[in-house]
Amino acid sequence: MGDETVIGPGGGEDPVNEGRRRFLTASTLVVGAVGAGITAIPFIKSWNPSARARLAGAPVTVDISALEEGQRLIAEWRGQPIWIVKRSKAILEALPTLDSQLKDPESSNVDQQPAYVLEANPELRSIKSDISVLVGLCTHLGCSPEMVAEIRPAPFDANWKGGYFCPCHKSKFDMAGRVYDGVPAPTNLLVPPHHYADDDTIVIGVDPQGAA
Ligand code: FES
Repeated sequence: MGDETVIGPGGGEDPVNEGRRRFLTASTLVVGAVGAGITAIPFIKSWNPSARARLAGAPVTVDISALEEGQRLIAEWRGQPIWIVKRSKAILEALPTLDSQLKDPESSNVDQQPAYVLEANPELRSIKSDISVLVGLCTHLGCSPEMVAEIRPAPFDANWKGGYFCPCHKSKFDMAGRVYDGVPAPTNLLVPPHHYADDDTIVIGVDPQGAA
């Protein structure tokens, strides 16, 4: 009965078992810490295998149900950042207008993406038109570019149509990860193997069933 009085409305005025009080205080702190962790990463829900399995290249499953237009979700696969971005209609319409400014607008370099992401539209480089999945490392020397997703003049490009800017040596990529001409990065950003387990679940590291 003494333990029950600790959590009752009587608070400190009730008889208290000191051991129980310490346990409850510790429990509250743990719950608070977990809650803070969830708040810090509000919409990323992924359930990953152990670190050792991940290093060996195990697939990573990511829930994108809460991903909103213009947002990026960052997962980790094989020690690399994987960007999952939901692109707006305006961004999708801007992509074909950039072709003349790009090194490889049709993604003809077969090493940079699986063939199935080019089937619907090579300019989008994605299975679903709005969802882009990229390895977030610059193809020059491996810095992680910044996402500058808004269509508006940028300090590095007065006609910026949204994309990624690498501050290390000023390489630019569009919102499909296609590299601009005249920058140090030699190729488009990598698209990792991936598929949709259902509408809201992407599995990074595994091709769609039956993909060549
Ligand atoms: S590492 Fe990105 S431009 Fe050099």
